[in-house]
Amino acid sequence: MAQDNYKSWLINTEDFPKESALPAQLKFLLQFAILAPSTHNSQPWQFKIDSNKIYILPNFDKALPVGDKENHFLFLSLGCALENLLVAAQYYGFSFIIKYPSSGDKKIEITLTKIEKSGVAEESLVSYIAKRITNRHKFTDKLPAEEFLNTVRSLGTESMSVDVLSPGEKNNKVKQLVGRITPKLLNEPSFRRELSGYVKTNITKSKFGMPAFVMDVPNFLSLFVPTILKFVNIEKLNKKKQEGAISAAIFIVISAKNNNEEDWVKTGQAFQKINLLATKFNLFTHPMAAPLHDIESRKELQEILQTSFNPHFLFRLGYGAVEPKHSPRMTVDDCMIVE
Ligand SMILES: Cc1cc2nc3c(=O)[nH]c(=O)nc-3n(C[C@H](O)[C@H](O)[C@H](O)COP(=O)(O)O)c2cc1C
Repeated sequence: MAQDNYKSWLINTEDFPKESALPAQLKFLLQFAILAPSTHNSQPWQFKIDSNKIYILPNFDKALPVGDKENHFLFLSLGCALENLLVAAQYYGFSFIIKYPSSGDKKIEITLTKIEKSGVAEESLVSYIAKRITNRHKFTDKLPAEEFLNTVRSLGTESMSVDVLSPGEKNNKVKQLVGRITPKLLNEPSFRRELSGYVKTNITKSKFGMPAFVMDVPNFLSLFVPTILKFVNIEKLNKKKQEGAISAAIFIVISAKNNNEEDWVKTGQAFQKINLLATKFNLFTHPMAAPLHDIESRKELQEILQTSFNPHFLFRLGYGAVEPKHSPRMTVDDCMIVE
């Protein structure tokens, strides 16, 4: 029997309320949206349903003023939720039009229309939504097939690039950058203080945040981690494990032409699409956002990639040596704005 804060993962694609009115159907789709990854598992989204429209709104109560000054990761997280929603919508026979957020209007508006399915639909990724898990453990030495990596590369567009860095010079440079910037960030007391609000014990009943088991912390020690983290950089105590975590990895960087809410959301969508494809092929991803926290390290990443686009997201990809476990989730009702 799943604990309450993990129940959102027990979604069954067969449970779609075919006979119900549109609002109930749209609410069902949101059960997929909330399974998206988000920065610190903050789940910074709220939803509103109005006739045939779903609105995804930023929940600024979940903003991270130290770790995410511009709300870049917040909007990226909304993009991940949007992608899950669209994959589910398509699976259940909806077409959609998306209005992206702008500096004046921060919400995402999705207008959905039920269509008659015609022909053979492209194979849906819907069943991988509840299987996807961030994997921070060491990856094996096996590299993903070139065909898979080419599929990932092909997600790039005129205004967005997807750089796949297989072992080689650029990959080494990114590894060094991650290895240098991550400890630097974790050494900042203000960053750790903010993070500690999202690091939970292994037996937490919280519906958000990360139980310490995602970082391989055993049960007993996990009782103290949220407090210790405020005062000590615990990663430092386990440098060897941290080095292991970035070994044998393919790095992927998603960059976009603009540095605004719309492109952050689109970056989140691309990341989540890669996540679902990766899950299908038993691969895992692990975001490594530290180098994107400040302008200097972003510039460094831009130079390594030799691109004029803005690097918005960085993660590693590979086969897991250890099976990760799900993190908690809020329910759709917890995230609804009802007027
Ligand atoms: C925008 C964004 C930034 C993230 N940054 C990091 C990161 O720097 N390091 C990390 O270990 N995980 C990172 N994550 C992964 C989240 O912590 C993870 O999605 C969340 O804890 C929920 O767990 P789940 O993905 O297993 O469902 C990030 C995820 C997103 C969407």
